[in-house]
Amino acid sequence: MGQQQYGDYQYEIYGEGLHGVLPRFPMTFEGLAAGAEAALPPSVWSYVAGGAGDERTQRANVSAFDRWGLVPRMLVGATTRDLSVDLFGLRLPAPLFMAPVGVLGLCGQDGHGDLAAARAAARTGVPMIASTLAEDPLEAVAAEFGETPGFFQLYTPTDRELAASLVHRAEAAGYRGIVVTLDTWTTGWRPRDLATANFPQLRGRCLANYTADPVFRARLGREPQADPQAVVGLFAQLFGNPLTWDDLPWLRSLTELPLLLKGICHPEDVRRAKDAGVDGIHCSNHGGRQANGGIPALDLLPEVVAAADGLPVLFDSGVRTGADVLKALALGATAVGVGRPFTYGLALGGTDGVVHVLRSLLAEADLSMAVNGYPALRDLPAALRRVPTDD
Ligand code: FNR
Repeated sequence: MGQQQYGDYQYEIYGEGLHGVLPRFPMTFEGLAAGAEAALPPSVWSYVAGGAGDERTQRANVSAFDRWGLVPRMLVGATTRDLSVDLFGLRLPAPLFMAPVGVLGLCGQDGHGDLAAARAAARTGVPMIASTLAEDPLEAVAAEFGETPGFFQLYTPTDRELAASLVHRAEAAGYRGIVVTLDTWTTGWRPRDLATANFPQLRGRCLANYTADPVFRARLGREPQADPQAVVGLFAQLFGNPLTWDDLPWLRSLTELPLLLKGICHPEDVRRAKDAGVDGIHCSNHGGRQANGGIPALDLLPEVVAAADGLPVLFDSGVRTGADVLKALALGATAVGVGRPFTYGLALGGTDGVVHVLRSLLAEADLSMAVNGYPALRDLPAALRRVPTDD
């Protein structure tokens, strides 16, 4: 898989056009968003598309990419490009991953979007970070990964035994790393969701990892299906753990799998995390869904990379195109994630829709490397320039 030419996707599309067949799915982010809006129930659409406050940070995450560009080099003959990366000893065919998205299940047309996304991981080699909040339990999701490695994202519950149980289940199911999300021990102020008074988990959705868990079930003391209200009540009581640095040794002790911290954006936090023995940093502002009024995640990435000092840095928030993927890599990310883009593909076309989105991102990244004359990812940092602005 390592030497695939992702750009060849365009020849497939043009080739089908010769027989009068047009692409099944939109070719732009805007097209995907419009299609997803039409396909999803309004409450799910606003939950996925919306963010915190007036969504300034969400927009800024995207426009931050406009301030960077790659300088083309000619007569290089970049006829083959190598997009593969090494992550915790895994050779990934491409530096792309699916960020954890907690309502995938609801976005899948059959109500099993977590499984559909996992099948897209199997088909593309693009890893998925499976969320704690899912309509199917983590074991069932992992069973669909095929040969592609998967990661488990932990929302650390206040009950330490439940946290340990989730991590150990992920280990047993074959996940290759644990990504602990730190920025969501409580939900940010989300006007779109507030306007519809809609929060899926409080309506009993996406709780399969809890209802399948022996510790959660023991705490519940009865069959989950017998008392859905009690499930939601217990979930609400256990969900949000405002972790501190003092909790980190305990988290570290839970697993020997690679441990990553998601939501880290400050270099001092990177250094403390590194000192505490984590294996990777996931630089992200949750796609602007948690704190509004902040700085685009991309603008914080270089300092995070410098402080990580060789530790792998995953990045997401605002990535919309293959060129964006290259810019984040040029700024030092080891691998780059998307949230909403693949979720929109899922809403439009299940596994096929996700595969289309991932292949399109990779094709554009690959072709950008080709036409800009950069055959290897290591060439990208030297190619990056600030786009001159008027101010
Ligand atoms: C998320 N994100 C998220 N993150 C996480 O750690 N656990 C989760 O369950 C979720 N759930 C979730 C739901 C929805 C609908 C969205 C859009 C996002 C955040 C996600 O992992 C990622 O940080 C952002 O989506 C990246 O930004 P973009 O690509 O959406 O701009």
